[in-house]
Amino acid sequence: MANELQILFSDLNLPKTGALVVPVIKGKLYSKGAEIDKKANNALTKAMKAAGFSGKKNEMIRVLNHVLPVEQVILFAFEYDAKNPEKSLKNTGGEIYSYLNRHKIKTAAILAEGIDKPELLALGAKLKSYYFGKYHTKKKPEELPQLQALTVLTTNSAKAKKAWRDEGYEATANSVFYIRDLVTEPANILYPESYANQLQKDLPQLGIQVEVLGVKEMHKLGMGSLLGVGQGSARESKLVIMRWNGAKGGKTAAKPLAFVGKGVTFDTGGISIKPAAGMEEMKWDMGGSAAVVGLMRLLAERKAKVNAVGVIGLVENMPDGNAQRPGDVVTSMSGQTIEVLNTDAEGRLVLADALWYTQLKYKPEFMIDLATLTGAIIVSLGSSRAGLFSNDDKLAQQLFNAGQKSGEEVWRLPLADVYDKQINSDIADMQNIGAEREAGSITAAQFLQRFTNGVKWAHLDIAGTAWTKKDHPTCPKGATGYGVQLLDRFVRDNYEK
Ligand code: BES
Ligand code: MN
Ligand code: ZN
Repeated sequence: MANELQILFSDLNLPKTGALVVPVIKGKLYSKGAEIDKKANNALTKAMKAAGFSGKKNEMIRVLNHVLPVEQVILFAFEYDAKNPEKSLKNTGGEIYSYLNRHKIKTAAILAEGIDKPELLALGAKLKSYYFGKYHTKKKPEELPQLQALTVLTTNSAKAKKAWRDEGYEATANSVFYIRDLVTEPANILYPESYANQLQKDLPQLGIQVEVLGVKEMHKLGMGSLLGVGQGSARESKLVIMRWNGAKGGKTAAKPLAFVGKGVTFDTGGISIKPAAGMEEMKWDMGGSAAVVGLMRLLAERKAKVNAVGVIGLVENMPDGNAQRPGDVVTSMSGQTIEVLNTDAEGRLVLADALWYTQLKYKPEFMIDLATLTGAIIVSLGSSRAGLFSNDDKLAQQLFNAGQKSGEEVWRLPLADVYDKQINSDIADMQNIGAEREAGSITAAQFLQRFTNGVKWAHLDIAGTAWTKKDHPTCPKGATGYGVQLLDRFVRDNYEK
C-alpha cells in the first residue's frame, strides 16, 4: 500500500517538521518535555492551563506556538498500567495515531523516554492505521489516512529497532494486516479455492509448507461431515494444511502445536437459510481460519523456534439443488454419524473432520481451534472477549493469561455431561444442534469435543471478536485480526522458553 504508515525509531533528537507528541504524567511534564517548556518560556504549561487540560487518561491538546523548537506539540496525558504494559502501550499507541490522523498531521514523533518497550507504542499505532482501500476508485487524497510517518524517540533506539525488526513486532502488524485483508475480502473474491491459492502463493515465501486437499482427497479420507456443508456450493471445498518447523531438535521438536480454524467463506445458513438483514456479515465466517493463517505466518516471519501445524477447513455454505437438507445423516471421518438438524450449524461440521484429521495425522501436543461458531457467544460475552472452552485446566489458564497480556481477552465457559447429552440424536450418534435452544455456545463446544479423541484441546468461539462495528483502540471498524496476538503471546510464553 502506497500510503502505509512508516514506523521509525530514533534517539532523542527533536524533529524539524511535523508534530512532537509529549507525554504529560499526572499533570506534569518530565525531562525533555519539561526542558522544551522551560526554553519556550513555559508555553506548554500555559497552554495546558488555558485549554483546561485535566490530565485525564489519553486527553490530548495541540499547541501551536512560534516560541517552540518544533512546529507543533501534542500534549498527551499518558497513563501507564505497569501491571499490563503490553496491552496498555499498544492501546496508547493506537490512541495517539487516531489523534494525529484526525488532525491531518502527516509526520510526527513521540517522545518515549523512560518507556520500557517503546516498540509496543509503535505496534499499537501501526495496528490502528489499517485501511482497506482496494475497492475505492474515487477517494480524494484528503479522504485517505493522513499520517505517513511516525518516529518513536527513545534513549536506546537501536534496541527498539531490533525489537521491532527481529523480535516480531513488525511481523505482528504484517500478519494482522494480512488476515484483516482476508477477512474483509468479499465472498465473490475470496472463496475456498482462491483462498487456498493465495496461501499457496504467499506462505512458502516465509518457509511455511502448504498442502491443499480438494474434494476428491477429502472424500477418500471419509470427511462426510465437512463435505456435506460444501455440497450446495458451486465452489469446491478445500482443506489447507500449513506447517512451520522451527524447532530443529530440542524438547519441543517431537510434537507440533496444532491450530485448527473454521473457514466458511460465506454462510447463508444453507437450506436453514438466514434472514436477509445482516447476511452480508457472513463473509466474515472464515475469521477462525484467518487467525490460524495469521499465527502461522507470524511464527514463520519471526522464525519462532517451535513446530506448528495449522489446519483450516474452507467451505461455502449455500442452498442449491444439491445442498444438504435438514435431517440428513452424514458420516464423519471419525466414523461417528451426525444428524444435521440445522444446516446453519455448519461450522462444527467443518471442524469435526478438521479436528479428527489433525489429531490423527499430526499427534499434536494440543489442538486449539478458532471459529466464529455461535451467535449465542455474542449474547453471552459481547465483542470484547472470546469464549474459551477446554478439556485441560492448564491450557485454559495459559490462554487466559495470554489474553490478559495481549489485550485479546478470553473468558472460560463450562463443558459438562448435562450439556453433552443435549446433542444425542434419536437416529444417529449425535445431532448438530442442542435439543433445547439454551446454552447454544456450550452445546456447540460439546459437539467439537466429540472429535478431539481425548487430545488436549481448547476451543475459542470468536463470533463476537472477529470483527467490530465500532473502532477499537488498536483497530478501526471492520475485521480485527483477533487471535493472532493472543496465540502468539501464548506460544511465546509457554513454548519458547
Ligand atoms: N456463523 C454462524 C455464527 C455467527 C452468527 C457468527 C452471528 C457471527 C454472527 C454460525 O454458523 C451459525 O449460524 N450458528 C447458528 C447455530 C444455530 C443454528 C444452532 C447460530 O448461532 O444462530
Ligand atoms: Mn451458520
Ligand atoms: Zn457459520
